[in-house]
Amino acid sequence: MLDVKIEKTKNPKKIPAKGEPLGFGHIFTDHMFIMNYTEGKGWHDPRVVPFGDITLSPAAMVLHYGQEMFEGLKAYRGDNGEVYLFRPDMNAKRANNSNDRLCIPRLPEEDFVQAVKTLVNVDRDWVPYEEGTSLYIRPFIISTDPHLGVAPSKTYLFIIILSPSGAYYESGLAPVGIWIEDEYVRAVRGGMGYAKTGGNYAASLAAQVKAHDSGYSQALWLDGVERKYIEEVGSMNIMFKISGKVVTPMLNGSILPGITRDSILHLCRDWGYETEERRISVDELIEAARTGALEEVFGTGTAAVVSPVGKLRYKDEVIDIGGGKIGELTQKLYDELTGIQWGKKADPYGWRVTVQ
Ligand code: COI
Repeated sequence: MLDVKIEKTKNPKKIPAKGEPLGFGHIFTDHMFIMNYTEGKGWHDPRVVPFGDITLSPAAMVLHYGQEMFEGLKAYRGDNGEVYLFRPDMNAKRANNSNDRLCIPRLPEEDFVQAVKTLVNVDRDWVPYEEGTSLYIRPFIISTDPHLGVAPSKTYLFIIILSPSGAYYESGLAPVGIWIEDEYVRAVRGGMGYAKTGGNYAASLAAQVKAHDSGYSQALWLDGVERKYIEEVGSMNIMFKISGKVVTPMLNGSILPGITRDSILHLCRDWGYETEERRISVDELIEAARTGALEEVFGTGTAAVVSPVGKLRYKDEVIDIGGGKIGELTQKLYDELTGIQWGKKADPYGWRVTVQ
């Protein structure tokens, strides 16, 4: 159990009013959580302090070699005013998988969850009330040794910040267009594609810009070796409904093991859908689109929730999916998942965790 010191701000900011547009990740709450790591001492000095700038040496290792990891989860406002988290233990586990890959010291999983709950509780008035809005939670660890040699740092900061947010995509739940990237790759097996670390997202920017410039919301990655098999999209995993089955790329080491991905697969199986986690080639996808077997395409992610995909572009081919409408299964999954998250539906899985 962490002994968290709490220092409240003397200058609270104005909490956005109901109905005020939030966007995604622009607004930050009054407080943040910080804990230090020092080799030989372990994690120490857990504290909640006023949100503000941090001081780092310009030689801090994270600034040069990117030794860092991050997580993403949300706090949801229930109708009765309660505040919920969704499977935070899964974020804690994934954080440690990322830590292991990046030679960052592990964080006890119960400490991760306690830190999230403590901070959310301090800033619970910031959890927005409007439908579809939530408090996005961003835990991250950075390496802080002032040292230019390439080696694991001996000191770190674990920080959590909070951002009241609306839909990740400006279009909300309207189907998005996805650009299948055939030049750049994001990750290869043996690399760090399964870890949630800034470098993976830095590697994604050039394709993201290309996709945007061509009028698409995000890039979809193909495997790093043959550029043939579907991997994931910029900020979400991807799923296809092909001839009634729900098919998604298997976790092969270069794909992020999404918590929403896992939850959606659970729901589909419980509803009697056959699910397949396997390699899917872009050729198979295009063939399925040509024959009409490709019924629905959607992305899954904490920020993106369940996002319908209405258009896929690969080289000279543009595939329209569902005539610009949200697929029936996509909508049903969105309703069920958000129903559980916001406390409007029963939670037979024990995924919802109340913050008190
Ligand atoms: C999340 O869904 O929480 C993510 O981390 C995606 C993020 C890069 C916006």
